[in-house]
Amino acid sequence: MGRLDGKTVLITAAAQGIGRRSAQLCASEGAVVIATDVNAAALAELATESPSVTVRRLDVLRRDEIETLAAELADSVDVLFNCAGCVPDGDAADTTDDVWQQTFDLNVRSMFWLCRAFLPAFRRRRAGSIINMASVAGLKGVPRRLAYGASKAAVVGLTKCLAADTVADGIRCNCICPGTVDTPSWRGRVAASHDPQRARAQFEARQPMGRVGTADEIAWMVVYLASDESSFTTGASMVVDGGWSM
Ligand SMILES: NC(=O)c1ccc[n+]([C@@H]2O[C@H](COP(=O)([O-])OP(=O)(O)OC[C@H]3O[C@@H](n4cnc5c(N)ncnc54)[C@H](O)[C@@H]3O)[C@@H](O)[C@H]2O)c1
Repeated sequence: MGRLDGKTVLITAAAQGIGRRSAQLCASEGAVVIATDVNAAALAELATESPSVTVRRLDVLRRDEIETLAAELADSVDVLFNCAGCVPDGDAADTTDDVWQQTFDLNVRSMFWLCRAFLPAFRRRRAGSIINMASVAGLKGVPRRLAYGASKAAVVGLTKCLAADTVADGIRCNCICPGTVDTPSWRGRVAASHDPQRARAQFEARQPMGRVGTADEIAWMVVYLASDESSFTTGASMVVDGGWSM
């Protein structure tokens, strides 16, 4: 028997990285999975590789697209995993207004819009698990992650407030705070640095385990929070960081 038998899980930014592995592991645990992303070509690849996963294009910067999707699917969704996010580089001196705004739009406002669109159906059914993607950078100061760290701290706050507002309605809301994880965008950040070999070594060295995490190591936390195994957990920030924040 699968850990997610009978559940329907909707995931944003599921075409690659943590979202993609979460879609695949949730499906392997018996869930009906709706994997959404703005990248239709990458979604098509996912659908070919994992035929049990249903894919659907969704740009989380578009409120109209979110509301259309929720009107169609919210009554059948049990778990909403808000995974979409970007990781801009910068400190207070070189972060532009545009970068700040784009980061908050993608990392925070999209979650607000998705939660607001799906909550009425969750409330009617007095059930539902919301999982938001935060980061250890939202809990501790990380150099050159000004907009990113601020946005992920906002995700932690959004999660706690949502949990407080919905706990009496039978809804749970938690976030995940990963350390550095090997995903396509992380590899891109390494490759874009002046000295990729050195950058990779620095990322690994700041993790006490001496390595970065895998997408699977975060996706299993998604499975746990999606499942009834976590039925007494709400408002929590689940740290999965190889000991970086200890
Ligand atoms: N990789 C890490 O080290 C790490 C660490 C902590 C937290 N996170 C967080 O995990 C999440 C996923 O990161 P990742 O590295 O696994 O993935 P990634 O950055 O490799 O992929 C991101 C996905 O988001 C999609 N996307 C971008 N804009 C979108 C939009 N407007 N609407 C819908 N989808 C959109 C992209 O098409 C892509 O498939 C992010 O929120 C990130 O901040 C990542």
